[in-house]
Amino acid sequence: MKRALWLLPLLALAAGVAWQQVSAPLPEYWSDSEVALIGSLSLTALPPLPADPSNAVADSEEAARLGRWLYFDPRLSANGRVACASCHQPALAFTDGLALAVGIDVGTRHTPSLIGLSYSPWYYWDGRKDSQWAQALAPLEAPIEHGSDRLSLLRLLVDDSHYSRLYRATFGDLPPLADIASEGTAAVRERGRTAAQQHQIDAAFANMGKALAAYQRKLQPGRSRFDDYADGVARDGRTGQGELLSSDEIAGLGLFIGKAQCINCHNGPLFTNFDFHNTGVLAVSGQLPAIGRYDGIRLAREDPFNCLGPFSDARESDCVELRFARDDNQLVGAHKTPTLRNITETAPYMHGGQIATLTEVVRHYNEAPVSMLSHNEAKPLNLRPVERRQLEAFLATLSAPLAAESEWLEAPNYAE
Ligand code: HEC
Ligand code: HEC
Repeated sequence: MKRALWLLPLLALAAGVAWQQVSAPLPEYWSDSEVALIGSLSLTALPPLPADPSNAVADSEEAARLGRWLYFDPRLSANGRVACASCHQPALAFTDGLALAVGIDVGTRHTPSLIGLSYSPWYYWDGRKDSQWAQALAPLEAPIEHGSDRLSLLRLLVDDSHYSRLYRATFGDLPPLADIASEGTAAVRERGRTAAQQHQIDAAFANMGKALAAYQRKLQPGRSRFDDYADGVARDGRTGQGELLSSDEIAGLGLFIGKAQCINCHNGPLFTNFDFHNTGVLAVSGQLPAIGRYDGIRLAREDPFNCLGPFSDARESDCVELRFARDDNQLVGAHKTPTLRNITETAPYMHGGQIATLTEVVRHYNEAPVSMLSHNEAKPLNLRPVERRQLEAFLATLSAPLAAESEWLEAPNYAE
């Protein structure tokens, strides 16, 4: 008895520690509004891929096949070693595991995932491209990425019989290269060309982007444990759906759609609103804080390959996003909300890979630091350690193998 009394303070201490580690028991049912929110996050609620009127071959199988060849082909680079797939690797949910991307040289941004991205009206962290085909053209010519140029790429299409065949099946004839000035420096070559010839080159270049976009439309997320759970909740509202999610994961979901407010921006079946927000992420080391979307929308409007440009297949009335995009000071320091699908496979995180782990991402949101530019839209959350752990556990339920057939996830055999 005496001994037991002596133990009491220790027991109280242990109970205190336990209280820090364990949260309140889960209620048996989600509320009606929670059921609706959880259902809205399931892949079951994902609408069909929206059409891209600016890309006439967006849903053509031939174009996707040509796009796959281009996507994995390092010959599309100045040093013969860089392909889209070097940075957007299928095994890492189409990212590269690096803080800053490395092509011909080290870049200034972190490589985002391509999963489910074709639903987005904007591309790049700052949204400076308004279609997936216009985006695909930029890395091909960026000196630090592929470092190639239009004419060299066109020559590859003309010289390689497999490419010529695929190209013709999708777009018709390639421009007659022999007629196009192709000797001397880039400047001399350009001067030697008529406007009509330049237009032909640019159009064939744009077509490469359109094929690459058609390929990327195949990269859709697969159903994860969370989706099965969410569909069960939509049916009967119970928090317990067999063994689909653990009680920590379920509590984490409750925080995600509740106290932690993640769903304000990471919403819908792809866990993103594809909109731009300032979340107070630190500047990339050695760089000024990024202006983000504030510049991005200007650049998108100036891009000759945008929806309203001469290489777009859209009518002006189709280009609603570009014509009516928001453009105000709120966008200073704002970046595009990324998907959280397969998030456990895409570390490090944020536009400059500034945050190494999901634990630190959750800590970042919990603290909501003051933004270096303009203001942080997220507010401090006051999550207890156990809640932070639960939120992180929930994020891990969103990983699953892609829904795409395996041929789309592998390099073709170029020697065939
Ligand atoms: C050197 C590495 C590298 C290569 C090569 C590369 N990318 Fe990227 N990609 C990136 C980085 C980094 C970003 C983000 C850049 C930014 O937002 O400023 C990006 C962004 C993108 C985006 C926009 C993502 C989003 O969330 O909006 C798409 C789509 C994309 N790349 C596709 C491609 C395709 C197609 C190719 C081949 C033609 C390619 N990339 C080649 C690193 C690379
Ligand atoms: C105000 C909108 C907003 C809210 C609220 C928000 N996010 Fe984000 N999230 C973003 C944006 C924007 C980025 C990219 C920021 C950047 O790179 O500068 C991002 C990035 C992330 C990333 C990194 C993704 C990647 O691929 O790099 C994770 C993980 C994440 N958020 C999880 C969460 C969680 C968990 C919550 C809730 C605690 C949350 N977010 C709340 C907008 C938001």
